Amino acid sequence: MGRATFYVTTPIYYVNAAPHLGHAYTTIAADVLARHHRQRGEDVFFLTGTDEHGEPVKLAAEREGVTPAELADRNFARFRDLAPQLGATNDFFIRTSDAEHKAKVQEVLTKVKENGHAYEGTYEGWYCPRCADFKTEREIDEGNTCPIHHIDLVREHEHNWFFALSSFQEPLERLFADHPDFVRPRSRYNEALSFIKAGLQDVSLTRRKLDWGVTVPWDPDQVFYVWWDALLNYYTALSYAEPGEDLTARFWPANVQLVGKDILKFHTIYWPALLMAAGLPVPEHVVVHGFLLMDGEKMSKSLGNTLDPFEVIDRFGSDALRYYLLRDVSFGQDGSVSPGAFEERYERELANEYGNLASRTLAMILRYRDGVVPAVRHDDILDPDFDGLDVRVAELLDAAELTQALDGIWACVRRLNRYVEEQAPWQLAKDPAQAGRLDTVLASLAEGLRVITVLLQPWLPATAERLLAALGSPDDALEAARLGARRVSTVQALDPPLFPKREA
Ligand code: MSP
Repeated sequence: MGRATFYVTTPIYYVNAAPHLGHAYTTIAADVLARHHRQRGEDVFFLTGTDEHGEPVKLAAEREGVTPAELADRNFARFRDLAPQLGATNDFFIRTSDAEHKAKVQEVLTKVKENGHAYEGTYEGWYCPRCADFKTEREIDEGNTCPIHHIDLVREHEHNWFFALSSFQEPLERLFADHPDFVRPRSRYNEALSFIKAGLQDVSLTRRKLDWGVTVPWDPDQVFYVWWDALLNYYTALSYAEPGEDLTARFWPANVQLVGKDILKFHTIYWPALLMAAGLPVPEHVVVHGFLLMDGEKMSKSLGNTLDPFEVIDRFGSDALRYYLLRDVSFGQDGSVSPGAFEERYERELANEYGNLASRTLAMILRYRDGVVPAVRHDDILDPDFDGLDVRVAELLDAAELTQALDGIWACVRRLNRYVEEQAPWQLAKDPAQAGRLDTVLASLAEGLRVITVLLQPWLPATAERLLAALGSPDDALEAARLGARRVSTVQALDPPLFPKREA
């Protein structure tokens, strides 16, 4: 049997403006999962990219006086470059303007039509051009406004091709009944299910009014409705991401598709229905996270209250950003973020609790034992906290509990700090009769630090690489994340420290 595979995706981001912290957030979360599954020795594929068609991009281009293609070319690069700056290890970056993507979209959607799920009709209803969303009655705010963008909805009346979403009512209900963890967390599963239970309406498959998109092969005056084109990226990318090799059979269906709660309907209802219509398997899990809020509002390009992730990274490094976002906002829920809260966590947790623990541990081993870690077994007193931690972290990440997993590891960071205080190695060092005890304490600190650092690697990859190197034990596989699983022999000092103090 081959290695287990793991395919994780982010939404593809609209190129109508520059990336902001909200986009960074989803990409970071996906990267944590990708890195963790690589630590398990799995064959991982991680996809992100840009959504370049449809009204959101076309309207933004008009506002800026450029063509949609020019706007896309200018802005896609900023999203592509954001990923590595976040420390994200995506295996491919898809653009929906890629010729291979467009051809595959045409192929799959033609199949949907051949399978009898498309028909011609007239749409009449409310539409949000920013969401590119045909709103149902229950998704409309007072005065016919968009609940996400707070703008007036447009009354659309257009003759085009339809996707027979309503005929997937029963198959979708069955999917949800058979796979209670198809959508995570549970509250989002319930939200999607109640949307289905309220009765599904057919939705546009194509748009006649728009020319910026993938041409409908059987009706070339039209383009496909941008959401179908966009959703299919998750599938099309596999066919051309690797030159000369089709990865579809290896990685489809996706294991985890991460999305913000704003696009739940598309990913938990439209998307599985479309795949069924095309005769393709549906993803294993759609994981829905909340919004990062600033001043209580969702950060977004159109609301103009963004916080620049590039700036944060410049000052503090990408690890600090990754840590802060996943620690401060409980993954799955909405949560406020602020520079003040960021700086506080940076100081108190990263610099003091973890950074100092590392510096002190290395410094003491250098001072008291010339940098050689005593070859003795770790202190049993740490076992209750460390035993099974690796398994708990893996289980929590399998359940998309990214914050809880991090919290669990952090409890052990704090445990080691208490251990230092309780054992007071600087006192033991004064008494030659305590040399054996000091050996145990130093070995335990080095080993404990190594284990938590391996476990923290998905959240703090650059830090983990540096610290594991300083500990002389670079192996960051999950199976190394147990006390005694690897030997730390000699250590080196860390200069500069892991999380240096910054000017306020
Ligand atoms: N292009 C569509 C998605 C198509 S996927 C087939 C789109 N793009 S977007 O640029 O608006 O990005 C939406 C995604 O960015 C959200 O689902 C979420 O993952 C992320 N976020 C954008 N703003 C966010 C916050 N304020 N907080 C958290 N995540 C946010 O929708």
